[in-house]
Amino acid sequence: MSLKEEMPELKAEVESFDWWHTIDLGDGIVTPGRDNSPRKLERLRLPDDLTGKSVLDIGAWDGFFSFEAERRGASRVLAVDSYAWNGSTWGSKRGFELAREALGSNVEDSEMEVLDLSPSTIGTFDVVLFLGVLYHMRYPLLTLKKISDITRELLILETVVDLLSIRRPAMAIYPEGVLYGDISNWNGINPAGLEAMLKEVGFSRVEVVQKPDALPKRLARALYYRLKPGAPRGPIMHISRITIHAYK
Ligand SMILES: C[S@@+](CC[C@H](N)C(=O)[O-])C[C@H]1O[C@@H](n2cnc3c(N)ncnc32)[C@H](O)[C@@H]1O
Repeated sequence: MSLKEEMPELKAEVESFDWWHTIDLGDGIVTPGRDNSPRKLERLRLPDDLTGKSVLDIGAWDGFFSFEAERRGASRVLAVDSYAWNGSTWGSKRGFELAREALGSNVEDSEMEVLDLSPSTIGTFDVVLFLGVLYHMRYPLLTLKKISDITRELLILETVVDLLSIRRPAMAIYPEGVLYGDISNWNGINPAGLEAMLKEVGFSRVEVVQKPDALPKRLARALYYRLKPGAPRGPIMHISRITIHAYK
């Protein structure tokens, strides 16, 4: 019997652990993810048609974006992660494996550290997704160089940006959990800094497809966080998120 035929069991299993991604498994079963993944997808401007493309999803966690790339026709999708899959602090690989089976997906997986990615360890890919990972990296320029080396056409980069009022390339660092009290958060590079770094590591064109929030929205959020008891602390007014398409 397939997982879909065992519907009540699938529903119960989906509800038995924590999810990061919100994934529609069909037949009314949607994983209760903390992340609003469909909304994030809209902002990424992932190409509608990925027919024949090889796609690498770095930091894939429950695999929402890997499965979406496969749905859009990618000929091969490889999902890579480390922390969220090894059951240490972030979570486990259970969601990815369950969703892959429920969706009847052929997405491949490999448990790997970002800095171990290279043409000799995993090869090169037409499209690389690097979503919500860069700001965790202690060595961001080295990380982007590693990613450039394995990208053939397009990198889709989504990350935290900081120092938005500074026009010169700049980077904030978050030692000791300065951002949201989370020690895994490490850097917030401003848009000019990201563009400079991406060009430095070999991308020829850099396009911002999701702009950071403008000042009034950031001010409103900072005020809301200030007034909300127990809200995480950090340089809220100066930070936002960005999505960039970087082309080789
Ligand atoms: C905020 S989550 C983002 C998950 C997903 N890409 C998304 O955008 O919804 C960060 C992910 O990056 C992974 N990650 C963080 N540092 C990593 C590293 N050095 N090597 C591999 N994966 C890493 C975590 O395990 C986690 O799955």
